[in-house]
Amino acid sequence: MASLTKKALGSGGIIGVTTGAVLLLETGQAMHSRVTGSHAVLLVLRSATWPQAFLAIAAGVLVCAGAWKLRRHLQRRKALAMSRAVSCPGSTVAKRENNERLARSYAAGTVELDSLPNFLIVDTTSKCNLKCLMCWQTTVSEEESPRVHLSHKALAEALAVKDTLTRVNFHGSGEPLLNARFAEIVGEFRGQVDYMETCTNGTAVTRKNAAKLLDAGLNVIRFSCDGDNAESFERLRCGANFDKFIDNVKLTVALKQELASPSHIGFNFVVSRESWRELPGVVRLAESLGLDFIAIFAYIKMGDGVDDLVMPKEGVEAVRKFISDYRTDPSSKCYLMLAPSLDASHEVMEQIPETSTTTKGEPGSSDNRMRCGALYSMMNIKADGSVYPCCIHPSKMGDLNRNTVEEIWNGEAYRDLRRQHATGEVDEMCLRCFDGLRYVTTR
Ligand SMILES: C[S@@+](CC[C@H](N)C(=O)[O-])C[C@H]1O[C@@H](n2cnc3c(N)ncnc32)[C@H](O)[C@@H]1O
Ligand code: SF4
Repeated sequence: MASLTKKALGSGGIIGVTTGAVLLLETGQAMHSRVTGSHAVLLVLRSATWPQAFLAIAAGVLVCAGAWKLRRHLQRRKALAMSRAVSCPGSTVAKRENNERLARSYAAGTVELDSLPNFLIVDTTSKCNLKCLMCWQTTVSEEESPRVHLSHKALAEALAVKDTLTRVNFHGSGEPLLNARFAEIVGEFRGQVDYMETCTNGTAVTRKNAAKLLDAGLNVIRFSCDGDNAESFERLRCGANFDKFIDNVKLTVALKQELASPSHIGFNFVVSRESWRELPGVVRLAESLGLDFIAIFAYIKMGDGVDDLVMPKEGVEAVRKFISDYRTDPSSKCYLMLAPSLDASHEVMEQIPETSTTTKGEPGSSDNRMRCGALYSMMNIKADGSVYPCCIHPSKMGDLNRNTVEEIWNGEAYRDLRRQHATGEVDEMCLRCFDGLRYVTTR
């Protein structure tokens, strides 16, 4: 009986030590750990005495705990690397000084700025092959938004302010991969800005354009995914095929390994009344595909957008809880991001206390100062050269076919909008945007 118990303890030790060693190997740690692990196993195999068996168990527990700690440490480092990738403090003196100036203007509520945008949305195309239920692109007419690829003039004007740019998002209201020159356009900014990203619906991915995409110098490539199965995915992303989408994501991930591309790949997930229940499933899907992150955005009703998609309160609570649980679970494999933390303009604005693009106080209250950081840092350049203040607001700020970025940045439309925000007269669209973000913000 005693020898049986001893054997059982010995086996326990072997299992403990081996599990620890495997965990360490899994987390990619050094030869040193392997040697320690196998020596400990040998020790248990040869053990004939009680103290040795206990020692082996203790060693097993220690190795397991060490491996667990190491795994968590690596996960935290990955999360930190991802957040640094989007924080963009400015890699050159000109960029840093511009960021400081815009932060000062924001704090003071200045209307006319002595800085230039540090963040551009460059819409390489306004053509799209889907009609997603939640998207503004689906409802807007061709007269309001002509379906064209980015003009040479608009690109040249965007490039003219590259010295102050820390970030460019190469996606706006269309599907970037429908523009055959997409990677070429991104290439024009390569090495000039600190952070570049794009977002695709994943339908038009081929081996050839995926390879170009992965070689373009983008820090982040997002695939829009709002469901973990064909039925829910295709209900929202009208015209897409779920299986084809998954195949295209797999192809891109495999190519990333093959080409040793440094781009982070993840999902963009829009939480809406229709989709929030899918969040755990979408996260599991992302993990199974070997993705780096899932970025969560709240649905924002734009123009004639669908009312029914606005997040219900119970959904907001559930999403918050899921995010917090996932982030503290050591077995989580992906980095879960929230929209506000993703936005470089917010990161820059964090230099000033109590500021973000979200509100101070409650909407509508008289002492409310709702000043959006986007008006001080970003510019949305549409494919036809028209300029908007962000990806939400419908007011046109200017036209790059007639004026430069600098002229538009301090033009009448921009000044009016900044004045509104400085005095708290924020229009309904901004309120909706703030509300949308607040649903999932952790601030
Ligand atoms: C407008 S799309 C353009 C890029 C590309 N066509 C795509 O679908 O990924 C960029 C992202 O915005 C999201 N989106 C669309 N409409 C939205 C809305 N009303 N509120 C929040 N996000 C939205 C999309 O799901 C997508 O992840
Ligand atoms: S979300 Fe993207 S794919 Fe869907 S309609 Fe909008 S732009 Fe097109």
